[in-house]
Amino acid sequence: LSSSRTYTIPPTVLLVGPSNSGKTSLQTLFERGSSDTETHTSQVSQSVELNASTDSATKKSFRNHDATDGTYTKFLFVDTPGHGKLRNSAMAKLNSTEKLQAVVFMVDAAALGEPEILAPTAAYLYDVLLFVQKRATTSAKTKAAIPIMIAANKMDLFTALPSTLVKSNLEAELTRIRASKSKGLLDSGVGTDEIGSEEQDSWLGEYGSAKFTFSQLREFDVEVEVVPGNVTGDGPGAEKWWWWIAQRI
Ligand code: GTP
Ligand code: MG
Repeated sequence: LSSSRTYTIPPTVLLVGPSNSGKTSLQTLFERGSSDTETHTSQVSQSVELNASTDSATKKSFRNHDATDGTYTKFLFVDTPGHGKLRNSAMAKLNSTEKLQAVVFMVDAAALGEPEILAPTAAYLYDVLLFVQKRATTSAKTKAAIPIMIAANKMDLFTALPSTLVKSNLEAELTRIRASKSKGLLDSGVGTDEIGSEEQDSWLGEYGSAKFTFSQLREFDVEVEVVPGNVTGDGPGAEKWWWWIAQRI
C-alpha cells in the first residue's frame, strides 16, 4: 500500500510570498473559477488539487481546472502563509515537498514601489532563491532544478508597477541584500582563493558580480521569470500564470 501511495503523489506547485500579495485569492480563483470570497491572512498552508488539461482547446485557461475529459495532469497547488512569523512553515514546505515542480512567488506590484514593502519582499525572495540555488548545486544529479515564477499581482490597480520595474526593483534590492550578507569580503582585498567554498555556496547568483540579476541563476539551471497579472479587477488576469504552471507540471 505504501508504495502505491508513493506512486500517486501528484506534482506540486508551491505558492509563497509576503502577506497580502494575493496568494489565497489566486488559489481560490484557480479552485473555484472566481475569487469573490473574502480572504483572511493565512495561518496554515492549504493544498488544493487541480487539473491542467493538456489537449483541450482551452488548455491555456485556468477555467479548465475541473475538466476531466481528454488528458489532463493532476497537481497540488499549495498556498502558504506569508506573515513573517509563519514563514518558517513555508520554507519548511520548500524543503519537504515531494515532487516539487515549481514555485510561484507572488508580490503586490502596487505596493512594491514603497521601500517598506520592497525590502521585506526582497528579503523573503532572497531566502527562496538561495534555497533553490543551493538545492540545484548540491543535488543536481538527483533532482531537477525548480523553476520560479514571480507573479506580479494587482495589475488592475493604476499604482501597480509594470513588470519591468517589478523586476529591476527586486534585482536592485537583492543586490543590496547580497552585498550586506557578504560582509564586505570582496572589498577586503582577500583573494578569491582564500574565500571559503562555504561563502561561495552562500552567494546568490554569479559569484563576485557587482549587480545581481535573475538571469544569473540560469548558470544553476534555475529559471526565474516575472509574469504580470491580477486576480481581481480588470487587467491581464491570471491566465498567463496558469499556463506557466501547466507547462511545468
Ligand atoms: P497572507 O495569507 O497574509 O499571506 O496574504 P495572501 O497573500 O494570501 O493575500 P490574500 O489573497 O488574502 O489577499 C490580500 C488582499 O489583496 C485581499 O484584500 C484581496 O482581495 C486583495 N487582492 C488579491 N488579488 C488582488 C488583485 O489582483 N487586485 C487587487 N486590487 N486586489 C487583490
Ligand atoms: Mg493567504
